[in-house]
Parts: sequence; C-alpha cells; structure tokens
Amino acid sequence: MKPQLGTCYYPEHWPQDQWLDDAKRMVDLGLKIVRVGEFAWSRFEPKPGKLDFSWMDNAVDILGSQGLKVVMCTPTATPPRWMLDKHPDMLAADADGQIRKFGSRRHYCFSHQAYRDESVRIARIISEHYRTHEAIVAWQIDNEYSCHDTVRSYSVAAGLAFQHWLQNKYQTIDALNQAWGNVFWSMEYAEFEQVELPNQTVTEANPTHWLDFYRFSSDQVIAYNAAQVQAIREHTPAPLIHNYMGRIVDFDHYKLGDDLDIASWDSYPLGFLVDRTDATPEWKKRFERQGDPDLQAFHHDLYRAVGKGRWWVMEQQPGPVNWAPNNPAPLPGMVRLWTMEAIAHEAEAVCYFRWRQAPFAQEQMHAGLLRPDSAPSAVFEEVEQTARDISSLGDVKTQQAKVAIIFDYESGWAWEAQPQGEDYDNFALCLEFYRSLRRNGLTVDVLPATVDSLDAYQLVLAPSLLSWPSALMQALQSFSGIAVLGPRAGSKTDNLSIPMNLPPAIPGFECKVSYVETFPAGSERPIEGGGAVRTWLETVETSEQILERTSDGTPLLLAKGNLHYLTGWPDQSAMTRIVAKLAVQAGLETLSMPEGVRRRCTASHEFVFNHNAEAMEFDGQTLAACEVRIRSLV
Ligand code: GAL
Repeated sequence: MKPQLGTCYYPEHWPQDQWLDDAKRMVDLGLKIVRVGEFAWSRFEPKPGKLDFSWMDNAVDILGSQGLKVVMCTPTATPPRWMLDKHPDMLAADADGQIRKFGSRRHYCFSHQAYRDESVRIARIISEHYRTHEAIVAWQIDNEYSCHDTVRSYSVAAGLAFQHWLQNKYQTIDALNQAWGNVFWSMEYAEFEQVELPNQTVTEANPTHWLDFYRFSSDQVIAYNAAQVQAIREHTPAPLIHNYMGRIVDFDHYKLGDDLDIASWDSYPLGFLVDRTDATPEWKKRFERQGDPDLQAFHHDLYRAVGKGRWWVMEQQPGPVNWAPNNPAPLPGMVRLWTMEAIAHEAEAVCYFRWRQAPFAQEQMHAGLLRPDSAPSAVFEEVEQTARDISSLGDVKTQQAKVAIIFDYESGWAWEAQPQGEDYDNFALCLEFYRSLRRNGLTVDVLPATVDSLDAYQLVLAPSLLSWPSALMQALQSFSGIAVLGPRAGSKTDNLSIPMNLPPAIPGFECKVSYVETFPAGSERPIEGGGAVRTWLETVETSEQILERTSDGTPLLLAKGNLHYLTGWPDQSAMTRIVAKLAVQAGLETLSMPEGVRRRCTASHEFVFNHNAEAMEFDGQTLAACEVRIRSLV
C-alpha cells in the first residue's frame, strides 16, 4: 500500500479565481486528495428544491484538472435554515428537554423521519449529479456522527421511535417488563405507548431502560446512515466513508462500518489530550504540545477494525485548534510524527484539516496549512517534508498483529447505565490496557466482541464485556494463546441482570464473584507484586490458581491453563508488569519502552516514535524530541 496525503477544502469560502491557484499549490505540496462539500447544503440548495451545482462543478473540474482526487460529501450535518421552516420539529432535545437550536451544526434528530427523507433526497441528487465525474474517488456521508453529543436525543420524535423500537424488540409488553425487572418499584407497563424516554425521572431510572435507550439511539444512527448509503449506491460504486470522531462511543461504529467501505477518523491530538483523556495534570503538561502517546494509536487500531482493514485519517490537526480549553501549537515535528504514526498503523491516507484558515465565523482561530492571507502557515514546510518522506517510504505492507484487545461499544453503554463507581469508564479501562501493551513494545489489533476466531493471536485481552457472546466464548474455549478476561467481563446478562450462576460465568472456570467494591482515586489497593488496583475490585470464591493478590490477600489474577481472569482494574504499573509476564509466556518478544516512546511494526517497516519534548535513549540510540525512526524490515 502506498499512503497518500490530502486536505479538506471549502471552495464555497473563497472567490472562484483563487481555486486554480489553490489546486496547483496543493499538488506542489505533495497532496493527492481533497475532501469537499460536507457543510455546503445552503449553497447546493439555496431554496427548497432550487438546486445549484454550477459552483461545485467548477471546483471539482479545477481540482481534477490538476490530477487531484476528490472526496465528495453529503452535506447533511448542516441542514440550511429553510429546512427548519419545513420541519420545525426536526431538532433534537437534550436530556433536560431543551431544544437544541439552529445556528451551529448537527442540529437534527436522528429519529425525525421527514429529516431522514430530506437527507436521502439530497444524497440521491448529489450522487446522481456527480456519478460520472472522474475526479471523485470516494464519498463521505455526513460529518462526525455524534460530535457535540448529538446521538442521544430526547425529542418527541425520539420518544415515539423508541416505543416502536421496543415493540419490535420485545413483541409483548410482558416480555419487556420481565427483561427490565419492572416488578421492582411497581414500574410495570400495560402497553408500549406508556414507555417514555428514561430522562427526567425522580431518581435513577431502571438501568436496562437506559441501556435499551442507548442501544436504540445507536440503531437510529445506523439506520439514518444506511438510508444515505442506499441512495448513493444507486448511482455510484465509489467507496463510501464516514469520518468518526475521537472517543465517541455512543453508537456502534463496527455496525455502522459494516455498511461502508472505508473507516476514517478525525485526529486532533492536542485538543483530545485535554478534553478526552483522564490523564493526570502532570501527564497533560508533559504531552501538552505532542498529545497523548497512545490515544491516537488506539483510534487508529480501532478504525482499522471498523473499516475491516481500510481506513484513513480524514482530518489531521495541523496547528492550534479553536475548541479546546487552551490551544497550544504542536511542537515542530509533531505533525510529521502524527502523520507517520497513522501510516505505521496502516492508514491509506491522511488529510489535513484544513487547507486555508478561515478569517470568519466559528473556526477563524483554527490553523490550516495556509494562513488566511494565503501565505504558508507554520506547518507548511513540515508537511512538504512529510510528503517527500512518504514517497520515499515505498510500500507499507500490512500484517495481522499477534496481540489483540476486544473493545465493545455496548458494554460501554451498560457500564454508563450502571457504573457502580464514578471512575468506572469502559473506554478509559480499555485505553489503559492498550497502553500497557504498547509500553511493552507490542503491536496490537483491536477486535469487536462479535469476533468468532482468535486463532491468529498469541495474547488476547477481553476486559469489561457485558456478557459473553457465544461465538466469542467458543473461540476462547478453543484458543491456545494466553487470554486475559475481566475485570467485570461476563458480569451481566444481555438484559443487564446478574447471571444466576454469578459472574464471570466462564464455562469450566471455577470462580464466582461474591461482591464488588469500587473506590475513588487515592484509595487504591496495593498489589503484592507491585502496583495497585484502582476503581474496581471483586471478591471471589475460587478454586483456580491465584497468580496475583492484593496485599490484603484478595485474589486479583486467576488462571486455569491459558485462561486468566482479572478481578480488578490494575493501575498502569501493575498492568504493564502483568502484561510483560503473560506476553513472554505467550511466546512474544517484549521491549520495555521508555515513557512516551512507542513502536509499531508492519510487515515491511519498524516505526519508532518519540512523543517526548526531549531526546530519549532507546535501543542503543538517541531519539531526538518528536523524532520518528523508520527501519525497513524487507
Ligand atoms: C472536526 C470537524 C471539522 C472542524 C474541526 C475543527 O470535529 O469535523 O469540521 O470543526 O473539528 O477542529
């Protein structure tokens, strides 16, 4: 695979006589891909039914004339103002019942059927119009589903759609009452029309009510997207893409990805470090201008799984953004490092957001590759160098990793509905486990819980799964590598009740959770072998081998042959130590990585990244601050 670079371009923001010059400069810079159109509905259709493609035709012709490949988008993340006059009730409502108004973006409720029809209509019209344009190589549908907390809507439309969804799922109201345990607190319903959304109750609503609402909300996104997919596929065989966002977990990306051809995500490492990690203030300070050393990589591996091997970075931060609490500039070298890191994780393309900084409106403080006056921005030369480096890299050959971690969206919703301890967060737990693998120098695949064979792997972690899908449990039973299950895995039924044989409910594994404790930061329980348990600890009855205990004797890591079960959430130092031991047992080669230095191997290259602001020693060599070391393995 030969990775390519690109950018996000808004011809509607600039005078037409600038477009040719822009296209030429993109080519000179070494870019190959340009994404357009994702917010341009008010220009495509200035009045209902009055369409104007002439300007975009011109833009796409110009980009194509310079040999650039275009990703065309459906503009459905920004319905124009007139849409509200047609469908005043299309807006989403927040959990307090407040309507989320027009005036920014993503102002629609996924459950509003008439808006869904409008989205399909515009997707059909645009894809028909551009179906034969040679420059258009792919389509992006909508923009960042769920960004700005837009998946879970508490509107009237959502309430009605939820009732239908429940009826479809349970068929009878008795089945729903049984599944949710509604005999508790006299919550039994006589008919589906009585079931409301779970917000604004006096005290906590039934957790299964919440979980079903979360499942429903995810399904609404998938159905909305699928409707556009169908419309576009009527006209073009070009690959379909969506640009997911970082740490967005409120819809099932794997399911949505099944309907698309390529996954992509939008990578803003400096903003994410501040507002999407649970890192300590010291960690945030240390990586303030580099971003978290594992967060991007985790998403890269996740989206490689979502795209079944095909994935891009659709938007890459190129300088200070405008939306984090504070917005530093990346250290020199970091934009190159982020780009190379995506390529090391087998990205087909990395596109910088955006070509030119806008001098107006919400994002005028957001850097681009050009300044508003069209002069090169601070990062321009670094991108030029990166493009040269990539062209001399040769083919990046992909390969399956030997280590995998299972990450499941639905389990995250279950623990959101019933966290039991305020710090219990599925994403944070999986990211920490992933980090401990990377601190051992391991190359990792992320897998969905629907996986039915683990045979290709030597070490698999399955933390925090709601229940055991039967295919996964069968795969585990015949697995010959080392499996580490838990904590909290298999602790509920699909209806979010405690299984009567008690968790972790692993067939043949003699262990029953008697009770669970959760505790806040500062109350960690030391482990005999080093490190501590944080947040979550189970007390179990077991006759299996005990490999690790807390210093008061509570069993922490149990084993039966190659199957291991963790009863608690080990902190970073404990988990890194445990992983190191088990990886060696699994026959893997581990490396103790200096903090902030990370490594990934493809079939053709070894990439080493120094995310630190200072030089680090690794492997007998000095890595400069923000340096990337690439070694050919072929
Ligand atoms: C993304 C979004 C872009 C732009 C960017 C700014 O979330 O897709 O349209 O807003 O953030 O960083």
